[in-house]
Amino acid sequence: MGDFKFSFELDAEGADVEPESDVQESKEKNDVRVTLRPAREICIPYDQIKYEDKRILQVSCGDYIISYLHPQDVEGLIDEKSEIKEAITTHSDLLPCIYEGGLKVWECSLDLVQYLQDLDPASFSGQNILELGCGAGLPGIYSLQKGATVHFQDYNEEVLELLTIPNVQLNTKPEVYKERCLFLSGDWSLVQDLLLKGATRYDVILTSETIYSLDSQPRLYNIIRNLLKPNGIVYLAAKTHYFGVGGGTRQFEEFVKEKGEFEIESAKVIRQGVQREILEMRLLQPERKEVKTS
Ligand SMILES: C[S@@+](CC[C@H](N)C(=O)[O-])C[C@H]1O[C@@H](n2cnc3c(N)ncnc32)[C@H](O)[C@@H]1O
Repeated sequence: MGDFKFSFELDAEGADVEPESDVQESKEKNDVRVTLRPAREICIPYDQIKYEDKRILQVSCGDYIISYLHPQDVEGLIDEKSEIKEAITTHSDLLPCIYEGGLKVWECSLDLVQYLQDLDPASFSGQNILELGCGAGLPGIYSLQKGATVHFQDYNEEVLELLTIPNVQLNTKPEVYKERCLFLSGDWSLVQDLLLKGATRYDVILTSETIYSLDSQPRLYNIIRNLLKPNGIVYLAAKTHYFGVGGGTRQFEEFVKEKGEFEIESAKVIRQGVQREILEMRLLQPERKEVKTS
């Protein structure tokens, strides 16, 4: 691991989008100042990735099978001194601004993998894809298998080191890992600034179960807004309601529409169990942008 460096250069298409950074290196949380995780590139050579005796699960995706480590086995690897350990020992799904739930495979990520299978294969081959809040990284891994270059981002570097990267290695050859993958940890606002320095833009942004916090939605929106190519597309998988927090797909749609920069639609509704959806977002082309008068 080291300071940020790009393993490869992406083109600068769409670099005319102005950064609207709301960089916050720290923020107030219940009157306590919390430091947001800084942006870092995580680099582990392919032959040094270890998962030895960990259980491996599989999910079938059409022609492909994605293998991934059993999240419970990975939890056991977290250092005793890590702040994440507290979340695990108290069986919390997340601790805001400390651990954001990346060590679990959330059901919407499987919905998103399912949804991606129905897309035209041209949606992946040669495309630059960013998976935001990747956790286990299943949608990104599926995209890699279909020929995309994928940048995986998670709030916690431990998640990338212990879960995402081993999962990617389980499903890729060394040359794909070396040439078509990048791993970035840190808060969305800081990762955004790092990527903007490299003029990186994406054809597709994938994200699953990342709109549960009303507090961090503006930072998620900004990174999407600033890093998506003008003709790019966002596939966002989420629950219709996150009970107890006020968020969900309708609320997020309203939030996005209010900004007047994207068209956003619910492309699929999954009604088995807790209702979930796949939202698609595209930047409004200049002539179609809504002008907000108030
Ligand atoms: C509930 S988990 C979902 C993980 C995975 N996408 C899934 O569906 O299984 C939320 C993810 O968003 C990331 N995340 C949440 N808030 C974030 C923030 N402010 N900045 C960066 N990443 C964040 C977390 O690290 C975590 O991976």
